[in-house]
Amino acid sequence: MDDLRLASYPPPYPDGWYRLASSKSLRRGRARCLECLGRALVVWRTTDADDVFAMSAFCPHLGANLADGRVCGDRIECPFHAWQFTGDGRVASVPYSSTPPTRAVAESFPVEEVHGSIFMYHRDSQTRQQADDAVPHGVPRVPEIDDGRLVLRGRYNAGRTRTHMIELIENASDTAHFRYLHSRMNIPWTLIPVPGVGLEHTARLDLDDDRESCRPQLDIETVLKVRGRPIERTRASTRVTFTGAGSILNFRLKIPDAGEIEIIQTQLPVAPLEQQVDFCWFADPKMPRAVVWYAVGNWISQWRNDVRIWEAKIFRQSPTLCRDDGPVMCLRRCWAQYYPDWTPTAAVRTPRN
Ligand code: FES
Ligand SMILES: [Fe+2]
Repeated sequence: MDDLRLASYPPPYPDGWYRLASSKSLRRGRARCLECLGRALVVWRTTDADDVFAMSAFCPHLGANLADGRVCGDRIECPFHAWQFTGDGRVASVPYSSTPPTRAVAESFPVEEVHGSIFMYHRDSQTRQQADDAVPHGVPRVPEIDDGRLVLRGRYNAGRTRTHMIELIENASDTAHFRYLHSRMNIPWTLIPVPGVGLEHTARLDLDDDRESCRPQLDIETVLKVRGRPIERTRASTRVTFTGAGSILNFRLKIPDAGEIEIIQTQLPVAPLEQQVDFCWFADPKMPRAVVWYAVGNWISQWRNDVRIWEAKIFRQSPTLCRDDGPVMCLRRCWAQYYPDWTPTAAVRTPRN
């Protein structure tokens, strides 16, 4: 069934910023090999400054894995014949030759470190990429994290999901599914329902008129229902901001009388139908940790409801939509900018009565 599913989706590695690892997992002078986005990468941190570089892992000389080499200052040295490379993919030295190749030889990638994570920009193109390539936008920064109003409260490695990037982002336009998939209250972090307790969501999507930047925002208001009755003092609001093709999502939760939480969810495609998913979250320093744990855990259990659907579905290139579905095709046309080799087709509309 995986072959059928895979054939239905757009290309697996759209353009965009991708979280590779947490900053603290890569210490000074260390290199790591990462397999993702249809390639093997070497990522290293310089010994004397805190710069991070990402480059194709296989040495342009005779193909050794550079991640098995060592970091020398800001360079990576190959374990096979000790050629040294700078982060822009150029050969810096060949120890047994006075005429090393002068042009950039390895594919290298723009890198940013934001809020404790390392991100890389990837383009789904046949042309060789370089670390100093111009990129259309940066990794989104949250001002309240930068200035300390929100502090780190946790990280969660959610492991791999067997789905395509586009499903997470298509959730934003598919406003109809909330009532059927997200109306049950689960024990936080799990799929175990809490008897008699439900959730009611009201979702509103703000489409960015500027097709180029396309960072739609989804506003969701949620209220707890006990035996069918809404408990007004539990009414909370969430703004979800999508960046790129779905590789970075920022959730801002406002909980009455408690404060605000920022959850950053990232997806990294490690294979065509396999996403590594990570969450990290920041909260008002005064917010009780139990409240933060509960709110984040509730969010993640709702995301798990989606995952159950995504892991068994195909992608309908021409879905049959009805009048009251959300702006599914409108957002697909916007997100097509991240898929240079994909053009969304038209939806099939049910006739109006
Ligand atoms: S294979 Fe890397 S220096 Fe020869
Ligand atoms: Fe959903």
